[in-house]
Amino acid sequence: NKKNKNKNKKKDTSDDDDDDDSGSSSSTIVSDAKQTQLLEQAAAQAQPFSRHQAMVTPATRSEFGDFQVNAAMGLAQALQLNPRECAQQMVEQLRPKIAQIMEEPEIAGPGFVNLRFKPSYLTNAVAAMANDASGRLALPAVAQKQKIVVDYSSPNIAKEMHVGHLRSTIIGDTLCRVLEFVGHDVVRLNHVGDWGTQFGMLVEHLRDEFPEALQPSQKPVDLGDLVVLYKAAKKRFDEDDDFKIRAREGVVKLQAGQPEELAAWETLCAASRVEFEKIYRMLNIQGLQERGESFYNPYLKDVVDELKAKGMAVESDGATVVYMEGYTNRDGSPLPMIVQKSDGGFNYATTDLAAIRQRTLLSASEEGGEQADRVLYVTDAGQSQHFQMVFQAAKQAGFVPTNARLEHVPFGLVQGEDGKKFATRSGETVKLKDLLNEAVKIAGHDLRSRNAATTNASYLEQIDRIAQIVGIGAVKYADLSMNRESNYRFSYDRMLSLNGNTAPYMLYSYARICGIVRKGSGQTDDDDDDAAALSSLEWPAAANIVVSHETELELMRNLVKLPDVVAEVERDLYPHKICDYLFETSQKFNQFYEHCSVNQAETLELKASRLTLCVATAGTLRLLLNLLGIEVVERL
Ligand code: ARG
Repeated sequence: NKKNKNKNKKKDTSDDDDDDDSGSSSSTIVSDAKQTQLLEQAAAQAQPFSRHQAMVTPATRSEFGDFQVNAAMGLAQALQLNPRECAQQMVEQLRPKIAQIMEEPEIAGPGFVNLRFKPSYLTNAVAAMANDASGRLALPAVAQKQKIVVDYSSPNIAKEMHVGHLRSTIIGDTLCRVLEFVGHDVVRLNHVGDWGTQFGMLVEHLRDEFPEALQPSQKPVDLGDLVVLYKAAKKRFDEDDDFKIRAREGVVKLQAGQPEELAAWETLCAASRVEFEKIYRMLNIQGLQERGESFYNPYLKDVVDELKAKGMAVESDGATVVYMEGYTNRDGSPLPMIVQKSDGGFNYATTDLAAIRQRTLLSASEEGGEQADRVLYVTDAGQSQHFQMVFQAAKQAGFVPTNARLEHVPFGLVQGEDGKKFATRSGETVKLKDLLNEAVKIAGHDLRSRNAATTNASYLEQIDRIAQIVGIGAVKYADLSMNRESNYRFSYDRMLSLNGNTAPYMLYSYARICGIVRKGSGQTDDDDDDAAALSSLEWPAAANIVVSHETELELMRNLVKLPDVVAEVERDLYPHKICDYLFETSQKFNQFYEHCSVNQAETLELKASRLTLCVATAGTLRLLLNLLGIEVVERL
């Protein structure tokens, strides 16, 4: 977290240093999110600032208001004004433009302009959030809908799906949910590793051990544990030269579409798919289409031919390779990207080049392309160089329209609690199914011991389902709450803790607010009610918000930042920003609730107002947890 903060800071200062004349070009603006957008525009349009960047940033401390413009940094210098004077001029210009939503701008320090939301703006905005029965909290969908392909999860056939794939699945799913919520057209693609030379040895191994798997038939063949099968095939490949030759021939036959080899391959894919599906079902992953490497097979030759025709691909030791500027080996020699091996086989990179072309360039109607505006690749950081090279080659080759964006979304490693390799006690790789089941088991145990006195049969009946939500939610939240680029240590204790920035904490916060609303709106009381209803609350209609205490304002100032948070994740693809905001929101809510009783409010008007704050807060928690792929329940 700290690391990320520093990084952002670094980004800000380097932006400050560069005082080119591009004015309000979006690359120089720190935040182009909703509320900020308006302020940005106002600041950027103000003369004489329009030709220079006026950066609006969220205030670092609440005493400084909600947003700040730092005139002393760069801007004053560029305009050859003293910072204070610069801030003064900015205030004059900003005042009329932002009067609707902000208080009179304030000059502070050596050249800061502090901007603070008006209470009237806050109360209206939050009432509108609470009033939106659609669950969108009054957030409009984007004006410019994009088509966005998200390539995530992407495990490999006949191999174990590992924690790296788990991270990819969790992060990718969240990004899809956010982008879809924002209003984009999202295509979720599972780029399964279902092609390549390893299939030669697998097919030949099946020929000997499971000959029925080579018969083109409808009947699925039970191959037992695929990991065991893979290891056995690999062992033979490494130790037996005759087998190795057979394996090489096997690939060629498979690629030529020979029926036996194809049948064996399909058997392997089907068996793996069953395993992957189990994990996806546990994680509630929906809409993810399998479009594995094999899908691009028909395009590969074309890609290599085009690279050759453009003079980008050259022969090297019988292989076909692409050299690009800026990529070298450690010794300084140019680093080749191999697109065709000497035996004629194509590579991982070739498939990705073909995929880029199919996803962005090829027409939808004639060539079956996606014509996406943006393509995201969610993989571990170890593949960064692969994607940089592939993106650069694709651009150079004209496989991407100039306005399409290709983005690698890298993430760090999952480590054991000791910071070492994540493994079982005996040092083996952890099976994802076991990992998820363990979290659910612990959550169930916690729930049962906390509810030991509960006699409510229908609640107890649902405990397994709730344990599922809490346990799986904890795994997801622990992953998503870290800056994805850093490594993180996997700890059941930490992720399942009721304290801190965890799923259980957030789920309890949500349930607690539900309890307050249930009571406040005269719906059944906690004890004697039919707890079968985990989502039966009728949310009271929004009332006028009246401010009686500072903590109410603080909570609202936080709530209205929701659009900025969502827009930031849409742009930068860091889900931990959602978790940070969730945690902050629940803390602001706690402070409010500590000082302001809802159900014993002094007047009915005040009670209705505070209930409205509860509704808006609950809606915010629910929406964001759902965007993280976590379901909520109204009692825990
Ligand atoms: N199957 C690969 C792996 O397990 C990830 C694929 C990522 N997507 C892609 N288009 N290369 O590492």
